[in-house]
Amino acid sequence: MTTTLTGKTILVTGGSTGIGRATAGILAREGARVIIADVQDAAGEETIAGIRATGGDAEYHHVDVSDAEAIQILVTGIATRYGSLDGAFNNAGIEGPTAKILDVSLDDWHHVIRVNLTGVFICMRAEVTQMLKQNSGGSIVSTASAAGLIGIPGAVSYNASKHGVVGLTKTVALEYASRNIRVNAVCPGFIETPMLERVTDASAKIRDQLIRSVPMRRVAQPSEIGETVAWLMSEKSSYITGVALPVDGGWVAQ
Ligand SMILES: NC(=O)c1ccc[n+]([C@@H]2O[C@H](COP(=O)([O-])OP(=O)(O)OC[C@H]3O[C@@H](n4cnc5c(N)ncnc54)[C@H](O)[C@@H]3O)[C@@H](O)[C@H]2O)c1
Repeated sequence: MTTTLTGKTILVTGGSTGIGRATAGILAREGARVIIADVQDAAGEETIAGIRATGGDAEYHHVDVSDAEAIQILVTGIATRYGSLDGAFNNAGIEGPTAKILDVSLDDWHHVIRVNLTGVFICMRAEVTQMLKQNSGGSIVSTASAAGLIGIPGAVSYNASKHGVVGLTKTVALEYASRNIRVNAVCPGFIETPMLERVTDASAKIRDQLIRSVPMRRVAQPSEIGETVAWLMSEKSSYITGVALPVDGGWVAQ
């Protein structure tokens, strides 16, 4: 079977559950060695056990993406052990409180920005540093959100953090395009993950309202983001950089 990522080593943050877990599986299916960084250890071990059971290559590390030193050590360690870091999926994120601006505390704001935006900045900086040393290009994909493209009342810190990820993506893409380091973002709509369960309070009524707001009239499976990420990681998307790609059933096109 021909695979698109054979021989590549790819870091996946937030790979213990949801979109990250599904994407890690798809990257491994495509032949990549997958290094997962997350803070949920039992779920992370489950993810790699699932990958190994299908013949894939994966390992798990407990690393908080907002810890710059730990991320640097992780990335350097990957390069030392395997020779290169070829791709990275900066996906770890938290939803933060559902609140309008007057109800957002400064602590809540800082927490969401630290994980969702500073975390991506920290990872990207370490990844670009390593890819420049290798001088063989690379592909970095980060998870923004449809909420990184349009305003949504009631999710102030989250929306601001995801708009930040889009800005970071476009800027770093331009800074390193000439070195063949491609930097893109995926912007998911509503995806069936533990985060969506939490945001909808597992309420059938809220879920129904969400579904009616989507032109394709359904939520997506995490694998639908994973397939997009695998494509962005591969040479099949070799001329694409600086893109914030909605994967949202048409939601932001409305
Ligand atoms: N589910 C959706 O509908 C949706 C829509 C748009 C964007 N997103 C984004 O997709 C990404 C993945 O979310 P998901 O829906 O799979 O949710 P999820 O909660 O299942 O997964 C998030 C993962 O990130 C990890 N994580 C959280 N904080 C971390 C930290 N500081 N360091 C390392 N890992 C950390 C969690 O442990 C978890 O495994 C997030 O960035 C989220 O904002 C999700």
